[in-house]
Amino acid sequence: MKTAIICASRYGSTTEAGGWIAQRMMIEGHDVDVLPPAEVRSISEYDVVILGSGLYAHKMLPEMNEFIETNIDELKDRAVALFALAMKREPILVNGQVHGGLSHLQYLFDKLGDSVVHADMLPGEMVFERMTEQDKTGLERFYRMLSLSDEEVRIRKQPRTLMCKSDFWEFAETVMRKVRAREDRNEMD
Ligand SMILES: Cc1cc2nc3c(=O)[nH]c(=O)nc-3n(C[C@H](O)[C@H](O)[C@H](O)COP(=O)(O)O)c2cc1C
Repeated sequence: MKTAIICASRYGSTTEAGGWIAQRMMIEGHDVDVLPPAEVRSISEYDVVILGSGLYAHKMLPEMNEFIETNIDELKDRAVALFALAMKREPILVNGQVHGGLSHLQYLFDKLGDSVVHADMLPGEMVFERMTEQDKTGLERFYRMLSLSDEEVRIRKQPRTLMCKSDFWEFAETVMRKVRAREDRNEMD
């Protein structure tokens, strides 16, 4: 099984996560490349494509959305898995409608259809000191919009990681299981 793990990452956490997922798959003998979208020349050589990105304002990064648009036909022809790193992963119910969680990736499920064998929101991390001025200003504005107290803002600006390798290994295990199940189904057809 040749697998590409394509990671769009602004501050490095998705790339680190991609490395952990690759590590777990390689234990099972998978041949895995971890690449940013800009370095992928072609996905034709891969049986499985895993697409990951940090979540920014409820979406994957623009370079990942563009990559999917450009490669949509080939992606639809293979087993695809999606993951987004996020600080808030659980969906919430607002006025009878589900917001957040995997519903943030619905726009991609609509595009990729049946090729998606698995998708998950996985835990991310935020280190304010590493961010661009634009992101810092954007987040400060967002915190003010939520009417957070100075103390709550101070806490949110502290370096925070939710990342734990076991979550990413579990994701890799589920992807491998679902890819195998899809192959078994294809063989029976
Ligand atoms: C400007 C900005 C916007 C973000 N928007 C969201 C968001 O909408 N939902 C969320 O759960 N996390 C959000 N995050 C947290 C990122 O998803 C998290 O930091 C992730 O680990 C970043 O991955 P990366 O370093 O690979 O880009 C945001 C972070 C920044 C800096």
